[in-house]
Amino acid sequence: MIGDIKMTSLKFIKAENYEELSKIGAAFFVQQLNEKPASVLGLATGGTPEGLYKQLVTSYKQGEVSFENAVTFNLDEYTGITEDNAASYHHYMAENLFKHVNIQASNINLPKGNVADPEASTVAYEALIAQAGGIDLQLLGIGVNGHIGFNEPHTPFTATTTIIELTPSTREANQIYFDKLEDVPTHAITMGIKTILNAKKIVLVMSGESKRKAFEQLRSGKVSEDFPASALHLHEDVTVIYTDID
Ligand code: F6R
Repeated sequence: MIGDIKMTSLKFIKAENYEELSKIGAAFFVQQLNEKPASVLGLATGGTPEGLYKQLVTSYKQGEVSFENAVTFNLDEYTGITEDNAASYHHYMAENLFKHVNIQASNINLPKGNVADPEASTVAYEALIAQAGGIDLQLLGIGVNGHIGFNEPHTPFTATTTIIELTPSTREANQIYFDKLEDVPTHAITMGIKTILNAKKIVLVMSGESKRKAFEQLRSGKVSEDFPASALHLHEDVTVIYTDID
């Protein structure tokens, strides 16, 4: 216990390599959907989960899993770019997962970053998640600065879905998806840390040397708003799958 905060222990699984990380991560989702076909899944984008999504598509094609009744909520989306922009998370999800599996379009949810009133859409997104019964299994990646979703350092752990200003380090890390740094949006809409912690089960995937500092901070068990992913120590069921870090 820290004060009146209940500390729990994260489970760490070391994968031999990226392929194994992807397979172990995908297996969480296959099991979840087989146990509860109408599961509510929280999804992430970025480089790290790409292999996991490939594995899920393979499992679907081999008849091991169905997305027919699954409902999905993505963590985040940039503001100010259209959904058909190749760097948007709408586009990423369609390309990496949705167009390859039998998910119903009406069951797919991503935060809306390109609307006249983004603030209203943050409230609407929380309401949609609640209406769906909450998230059963949430996938996370982690930023080099410890962000989860786009919750940058110093975001209160009490935050729900919100508009956030991206830090220079996050904009630089994500520049690879844009032609130039100036094209990387300055803001995003993201599930808040509280929203993430409300998920019943969480799986975080992390891979590669660039994540070493974040890995060590997470392992240390120290809980601080300076390091957003440390909020996961306050959750009862988090598994961290990692590779190529130690
Ligand atoms: C993406 C997201 C981010 C990423 C993180 C790591 O939806 O929420 O927190 O998970 O920036 O990205 P990669 O995997 O590209 O290193």
